[in-house]
Amino acid sequence: MLIIHVVGARPNFMKAGPVIIALSQHKKVHQVLVHTGQHYDHNMSEVFFRQLGLPEPDINLSVGSGSHAQQTAQVMVRFEQVVQQYKPDFVLVYGDVNSTIAAALVCSKLSVPVGHVEAGLRSFDRTMPEEINRILTDQLADWLFTPSSDGDENLRREGITPAKIHLVGNVMIDTLVSLMPQVDTAWLELQGRFDLSSSFGLVTLHRPSNVDDPLALHKIVETLVIIAHDLPLLFPIHPRTRHRLANLGLSVDRLLLTEPLGYLEFLALQNRASFVITDSGGVQEETSFLGTPCLTVRENTERPITIALGTNKLVGHNMPQLRSEVQSILAGKRPSPQPIPLWDGHAAKRIASILL
Ligand code: UD1
Ligand code: UDP
Repeated sequence: MLIIHVVGARPNFMKAGPVIIALSQHKKVHQVLVHTGQHYDHNMSEVFFRQLGLPEPDINLSVGSGSHAQQTAQVMVRFEQVVQQYKPDFVLVYGDVNSTIAAALVCSKLSVPVGHVEAGLRSFDRTMPEEINRILTDQLADWLFTPSSDGDENLRREGITPAKIHLVGNVMIDTLVSLMPQVDTAWLELQGRFDLSSSFGLVTLHRPSNVDDPLALHKIVETLVIIAHDLPLLFPIHPRTRHRLANLGLSVDRLLLTEPLGYLEFLALQNRASFVITDSGGVQEETSFLGTPCLTVRENTERPITIALGTNKLVGHNMPQLRSEVQSILAGKRPSPQPIPLWDGHAAKRIASILL
């Protein structure tokens, strides 16, 4: 049995890793790993293969950056040739990035079955490029592996046949659970590198709605600089944000800016931070699992379970609220998360047994 996995952007690697490992336990399975090249900097791609123990990609489509249409079309044109050459029994796609929808569309036209890992999530905000990718990928997929029951409900409401929907839990948490024993070593190194002797906050931002709009970015960064008077704020900058920040004309000297970090380093920081300020999807999940307060600079989330059971709070673009939430966390008010069903480190094994 031949299975192709398609990955392309940073959050895909943490999702595909445990599924590849779980399927490799089965002798009759041959796996081919295709990297679309959507992300290509060393610290947005290669570092994760090493840290997550992933095999080198068998094929790199090297599509690189571009407009949505360019990127999606390039993946489609190049991936179609791979599918025609390898004739897989099925293809697995991950998450909600452009590489995900592009690969799913290619497969559906060539009548190759597709499994979507992390199906069913909805922000109900169609101005987000990811929301379009989610809805369309789920319409095309033959297996829909959901991380939480809200995903199942969303899919049923959209008319997906219930037999295709499988509630398996969260594969990103599988990666977290398996690599957690390594974070202390990473933490020791980071403590020295960034002089993190007392409490600190961690920041990530990359959503176009926050960073591509200069006014929105200005307001957020201004607020971060104020918060940084109370404690150090470490901000590993996504490349999209790095470009925008350079043109902002605002002094960011108070922030501890750094390049995007490896998975182990970033996990160690999430684990030790007093709070995380983010607009990342995956980080809302990881902080919830770790019990670290998460303040999400978005008006909505496709991961409502992280609010209901985890540590996530939406602050939207209300910067006075962001400041007051930070103050109350620093004053000792912390969320009390509950375990999220099936976020237990075994989601990928469930996927493998359903597929096989
Ligand atoms: C993409 C995903 C987003 C996901 C994010 C994870 C889409 C539509 N967006 O957003 O859902 O949350 O990845 O990080 O698929 N760049 C580099 N080096 C790289 C990669 C990108 O410099 O290795 C720069 C380029 O200038 C590029 C920009 O970042 O134009 C944006 O990259 P792109 O992949 O288009 O979107 P992301 O914002 O990374
Ligand atoms: N992450 C990382 N280094 C960083 C920032 C994030 O390894 O500097 C990890 C994070 O722990 C999570 C994933 O990247 O596993 C989330 O990816 P990202 O925020 O890029 O995308 P999203 O989840 O928003 O789609």
